[in-house]
Amino acid sequence: MFPVEKIRADFPILQRQVNGKPLVYFDNAATSQTPTIVIDAIVDYYSNYNANIHRGVHSLSQEATDKYEEARIKIQQHFNAEKAYEIIFTAGTTHGINMVASGFSELLKNGDEIIVSALEHHSNIVPWQMLCEKTGAILKVIPMLQNGTLAMKAFDQLLSENTKLVFCNHVSNALGTINPIKEIIEKAHSVGAAVLIDGAQATPHIKPNMQELDVDFYVASAHKICGPTGVGILYGKEKWLEKLPPYQGGGEMIETVTFEKTTYAGLPHKFEAGTPNICGGIAFGVALDYMNTIGFDKIANYENQLLQYGTEKLQEIEGLTIYGTSNKTAVISFNIKEIHPYDIGVILDKLGVAVRTGHHCAQPIMNFYKIPGTVRASFAFYNTKEEIDIFIAALKKAIMMLS
Ligand code: ALA
Repeated sequence: MFPVEKIRADFPILQRQVNGKPLVYFDNAATSQTPTIVIDAIVDYYSNYNANIHRGVHSLSQEATDKYEEARIKIQQHFNAEKAYEIIFTAGTTHGINMVASGFSELLKNGDEIIVSALEHHSNIVPWQMLCEKTGAILKVIPMLQNGTLAMKAFDQLLSENTKLVFCNHVSNALGTINPIKEIIEKAHSVGAAVLIDGAQATPHIKPNMQELDVDFYVASAHKICGPTGVGILYGKEKWLEKLPPYQGGGEMIETVTFEKTTYAGLPHKFEAGTPNICGGIAFGVALDYMNTIGFDKIANYENQLLQYGTEKLQEIEGLTIYGTSNKTAVISFNIKEIHPYDIGVILDKLGVAVRTGHHCAQPIMNFYKIPGTVRASFAFYNTKEEIDIFIAALKKAIMMLS
């Protein structure tokens, strides 16, 4: 049996009340909650060894450097990257995507083609549009189907020797669809294109294996995986990270500087200018340890039970439409008749239930379904069926008030 009650005790925020009601937190796709062990690691850093890294001979600096680099190795092992220096610390998924997009502005030429999927978050659309404007490259889109999956036959037709890059999320943030990224990577490689996978929504549920996937770039954020905000990773194959120019100039990313010429540091420092989020990186490592101790297979299995239970309960409600019905993570995006999702979200909040409403930074998906947005309930491994019952009762109340 999954030890959910024991796990819930690790998350202090789950004890709080919101608007006089016990908090039911179903906005995990926006950000996950933080266990005490991660909060303690943050307090420990600032209480005991706060110092800048890679710069000081003094003990505090060495201690902080060691912990930060230990975290990089933990992350390398978690993602099964071949080398620790293929893990670049970033400020989060969006930052990682922009680092790659900016680097490719030097490598693309007019008429090259890049492909994104119709299921992307704006952060995996806008940087590529900006890249196309700069380089004259052409953006093509893998269309989506009514069930919220990608039209893979159409992808085959889009691929050609002109395709230089393919971008796709591992899991859709708006619908939860798990995309066939292994197939996408293999097909893209068959025409010589590089692939970036946005793992922001997959990494809380799936342990992705960089070497097995043979992916060129993979990005993720710590705050979706029980870590703090403001830190994430860009995984890149060594050959690609060597090829890309640095994203920004500054301290720590150089080998030598004179006014005539600067030479850059090796990986990973070439991409890590400035003082990083040291505490965040260390806490990210602790968060991964915490989740690995529970086990990603067990987490996915338990969340799947919540998904099935929640789906069944929601389907009993008259006039309710669920968007995205194929193989997916524990995300349920839905609307009820003509009721605006925002109105439902406000009433649910009054009843202690936190969900996200709106377009979820994925307007093309909403346009496809011809809707302004959805109500999105996203579950984590610390949620329970009892919470789903509270959510369903609150939803029924909201429908009554709004009909
Ligand atoms: N990308 C996050 C979400 O889907 C913020 O809510």
